[in-house]
Amino acid sequence: MSIKALKGFKDILPDEAGLWQFIEQTARDVFHRYGLEEIKVPILEKTELFVRTIGASTDIVEKEMYTFEDRNGSLITMRPEGTASVIRAYIENGLFVRGAVQRLYTIGPMFRHERPQKGRLRQFHQMSVEVLGSNSARIDTEVMAIAWQILQDIGLQASLEVNSLGCAACRPSFKEILQEFLQERLSHLCDDCQRRSNTNPLRVLDCKSEHCQAEYVSAPSIIDHLCQGCRDHFEEVKQTLSSLNISFAVNPKMVRGLDYYTRTTFELITTELGAQGAIGAGGRYDGLVQQLGGPEVPGIGFAMGMERLVMLLSQKGHGEISHVLDLFLITLGEKAHEKGFILMQMLRAQGLRVMMDHEGRSMKNQLKQADKQNAWFALILGERELENLEVVLKDMHSGEQELIELAPAFEDWAPVIKQKIKH
Ligand code: HAM
Repeated sequence: MSIKALKGFKDILPDEAGLWQFIEQTARDVFHRYGLEEIKVPILEKTELFVRTIGASTDIVEKEMYTFEDRNGSLITMRPEGTASVIRAYIENGLFVRGAVQRLYTIGPMFRHERPQKGRLRQFHQMSVEVLGSNSARIDTEVMAIAWQILQDIGLQASLEVNSLGCAACRPSFKEILQEFLQERLSHLCDDCQRRSNTNPLRVLDCKSEHCQAEYVSAPSIIDHLCQGCRDHFEEVKQTLSSLNISFAVNPKMVRGLDYYTRTTFELITTELGAQGAIGAGGRYDGLVQQLGGPEVPGIGFAMGMERLVMLLSQKGHGEISHVLDLFLITLGEKAHEKGFILMQMLRAQGLRVMMDHEGRSMKNQLKQADKQNAWFALILGERELENLEVVLKDMHSGEQELIELAPAFEDWAPVIKQKIKH
């Protein structure tokens, strides 16, 4: 019996790879325009890192982490998200002594043992941004603008929802007010909300049960309970978003599934993916660096789910960004094949994407391969052409053919052919 991939783990096949590359390259281009630098962090970390950052009573830590003992008996986890690792690396490598604000991005796989469904995998990929060292509300806006710009550049639209979760000064008193509200209707709430009303009361606002949501219509709103500092910060975020023409809606019920957030949080939502509508999300995490043993440095970031972007683009009919060959080299006969093999290498060195057949197949078959591989041109080289120092160049789209004369010196062939390939 053949072995299949694990549930929730997916192969990214060559047909789809073009779309992945397009998204990644577009995002990298945006990141560089916004002055971000790349950081690469390990997939495995000590379990404690995620417990201390994401929060012990979150779904991710309670139910979804791939955690195991390694051969030395240390408890390790396959990263469920990137922020914790980037902050660890930032502290461990002393990046803060470089002074200025650090603008970092990273791209890679994450692992969460969730129930797989459309747009939700157990291994998925994120492109994420972390900006460390600034309290300015303009940084919040700039970070959201990065996500916004990526979507624009890849040709997608989403709505931006923002909220403020307050800070260590105002959130505890809001929690108490919310707990009081929940206590009064505890028996009407689902089991999860009943439990969370004690452990993590803010998270109840995110409950998927319609019944609970009906109860929360009249719930107190965090926005009304922010301290002056948080209120001013949030006002400035909204103002500066508007000044950049980025449209948004305030959603006071957005609480996020990770505990490290303070002040601004945001999500980019689409209605085109069914239940898994969040294509990107993030927020500020001002106490996190210190909580992990670093200096008092504020931070903000976001992550976008690449699978969801790929799905949206292919739904819109952009699945065709497949690789295109410049040239398929058709050779007939052993001598032509021998020369053709070296010519292919020379053309590749000239920057062209070139392929040929090594199986001695017929002309008809080789033309078919050229067509299948989406080649712009086919170059036909037979024994007679070799003797006469000429080749036939066929434009695979128009069907036009041209006879090209070749110089006696073999080294001169590639530049001549390259010149003829204009598209
Ligand atoms: P998150 O909301 O957990 O945030 O994930 C961010 C994005 O990753 C989601 O909006 C979604 O597009 C994608 N995603 C999450 N889980 C899955 C899954 N199981 N399958 C497919 N896609 C998924 C974070 O991870 C934070 N670290 C973001 C952040 C960075 N906040 C500050 N800095």
